[in-house]
Amino acid sequence: MVLITGGCGFIGSAFVLQWLAQSGEPVLNLDLLTYAGHPGNLAAVQGRPGYHFTHGDIGDSALVADLLRTHQPRAIVHFAAESHVDRSIAGPMAFAHTNVLGTLKLLEVTLAWWRTLPPEQAQAFRFLNISTDEVFGSLEAGAAGFTERHPFEPNSPYSASKAAADHFVRAWHHTYGLPVLTTHCSNNYGPRQFPEKLIPLMVHNALAGKPLPVYGDGLQVRDWLHVDDHCAALRAVLAQGRPGQTYNIGGRSERTNLAVVHAICASLDAVRPRSDAKPYAELIAHVTDRPGHDRRYAIDDSRIASELGWQPTVRFEDGIRRTVAWYLDNPDWVASVTSGSYRQWVEQQYPSTATP
Ligand code: NAD
Ligand code: TYD
Repeated sequence: MVLITGGCGFIGSAFVLQWLAQSGEPVLNLDLLTYAGHPGNLAAVQGRPGYHFTHGDIGDSALVADLLRTHQPRAIVHFAAESHVDRSIAGPMAFAHTNVLGTLKLLEVTLAWWRTLPPEQAQAFRFLNISTDEVFGSLEAGAAGFTERHPFEPNSPYSASKAAADHFVRAWHHTYGLPVLTTHCSNNYGPRQFPEKLIPLMVHNALAGKPLPVYGDGLQVRDWLHVDDHCAALRAVLAQGRPGQTYNIGGRSERTNLAVVHAICASLDAVRPRSDAKPYAELIAHVTDRPGHDRRYAIDDSRIASELGWQPTVRFEDGIRRTVAWYLDNPDWVASVTSGSYRQWVEQQYPSTATP
């Protein structure tokens, strides 16, 4: 079986669903259920014999040691993290706590248990660390995409915390021989993403008739990767990746934020026109830029493409249409995650655009 951390979040839940749909191997999901974790994301597999859930913290060493002893996973797929850049700017300490110390504690406990394994099991074991392209910093327009050799130049508290975790993961391989793999992926999109991130936030606000808050000029560029493509890449890395190696994963879909917001508006215009028939794009409001805002991320995926034969399959235009349709079809999910603490965040983050 495999142990997943953070499986109730956006990417972790997509991974668990894809894993159980495509393999008979059981998963154990360890998740603290922070504001970003929703057991309902995995309602479709709840109660299935191959799915197990433990509510707990990756930093709870006694708990994790017990889970490893009891379940003897052949791999750990580590998603659990604080994942939102704006929240890291408002409160960096939680990011150091979970992303850095939590990962370090997880590594320590994993190593102690891994050392007790018989050689064949120890050799086959993998610790897959899910990181981000944001550790590489910001690219100039026209510069080549990030390769795995690009220097780490994190600019936000979030990316700094992920970079720190990545360094520890690397050290656990080089110093202790733990068979680790690290992936750096670009911005994911798809169903079940918490509406603090760009795409679901814009859909949510548009449907509520609220302003669509674009930071600064909106010409920042992200490389959008459909979450199902990302999960397929992770399965390939887990199956065939070389221990100690890192793999960059991108969507080959660089878009400015404004282009993304216009694509969302166009999708909504087509399937859920406003009652006054005005275009949703009229709701776009340029707001104060994010401090230290990275201008551009882009991925050179030639390593994973050539070594593991993976490439993205979802065209952004199709993926965004399907994603918007998912949010329209799942108002109960949106309502369940946009409760009291969500409203507090929106009021704090968007004081100028918040409407009652
Ligand atoms: P998310 O915020 O949606 O989910 C995070 C999950 O981790 C939640 O279920 C939460 O409850 C859980 N969690 C948080 N702290 C925990 C702890 N101490 N112990 C156990 N569980 C804990 O995040 P996501 O968007 O699904 O991202 C998953 C991973 O992928 C993260 O490591 C993130 O840095 C990385 N990543 C995300 C993106 C993206 O576009 N979303 C891009 C690149 C990398
Ligand atoms: P986000 O989804 O927070 O991901 P990340 O910061 O990890 O790339 O933001 C994606 C881009 O969208 C980023 O350039 C910031 C921008 N953005 C806005 O313009 N307005 C918003 O309200 C949000 C949440 C993000």
